[in-house]
Amino acid sequence: MKFSELVKQRFSARKYLDKPVEREKINQCLESARLAPSACNSQPWRFIIVDEPGLVSSVSAQTYNQLISFNKFVGNAPVIVVILMEKPKLIAQIGGKIKNKEYPLIDMGIAAEHFCLQATELGLGTCMLGWFNEKSIKDILKIPANKTVGLLISLGYPDYAKLPDKKRKKFDEIVNYNLYGASEI
Ligand SMILES: Cc1cc2nc3c(=O)[nH]c(=O)nc-3n(C[C@H](O)[C@H](O)[C@H](O)COP(=O)(O)O)c2cc1C
Repeated sequence: MKFSELVKQRFSARKYLDKPVEREKINQCLESARLAPSACNSQPWRFIIVDEPGLVSSVSAQTYNQLISFNKFVGNAPVIVVILMEKPKLIAQIGGKIKNKEYPLIDMGIAAEHFCLQATELGLGTCMLGWFNEKSIKDILKIPANKTVGLLISLGYPDYAKLPDKKRKKFDEIVNYNLYGASEI
């Protein structure tokens, strides 16, 4: 698939077939995430793949509650990827402080998107999840208290007849050449 096609095909999948995902495919997605760039090549991430059904159900229950239920669909995903933010190299920590930038967050986002794009190429569906109960997930997965869970990704075979529409800002709303606010594109 051409890259331009791949980015159009990736969407947040919130319906999954009742079908397990082969570990070989999951590992291919992880390999693409592993090759992501990061500030000072710190690679400040660790991926925990939750594919044991009992654990998937316990973790998914920590992404919604009765009041805030938009993540209820996660309960039907066969796999949940938990991305931990590890301490970056000292040089990246110092650089981030001086320049007031959260490099590990940027790094993790890039790696997560590598994962999702690779999954799309393999016919899998993903949804990044920023809304979850971090403390409970750490307890369930025995993640040390001093670690940070940055993001979850639900993963599975998507159950969609057609691609959902992409809702995006218009090109000229987000792009300026040369000067902020310039109208020429
Ligand atoms: C950092 C981040 C956190 C997100 N958290 C959630 C979430 O908790 N639940 C959810 O359903 N979608 C979540 N999304 C998916 C976005 O809603 C989705 O990417 C956006 O609406 C664009 O749609 P698309 O991915 O289908 O193109 C998240 C996306 C990102 C990048």
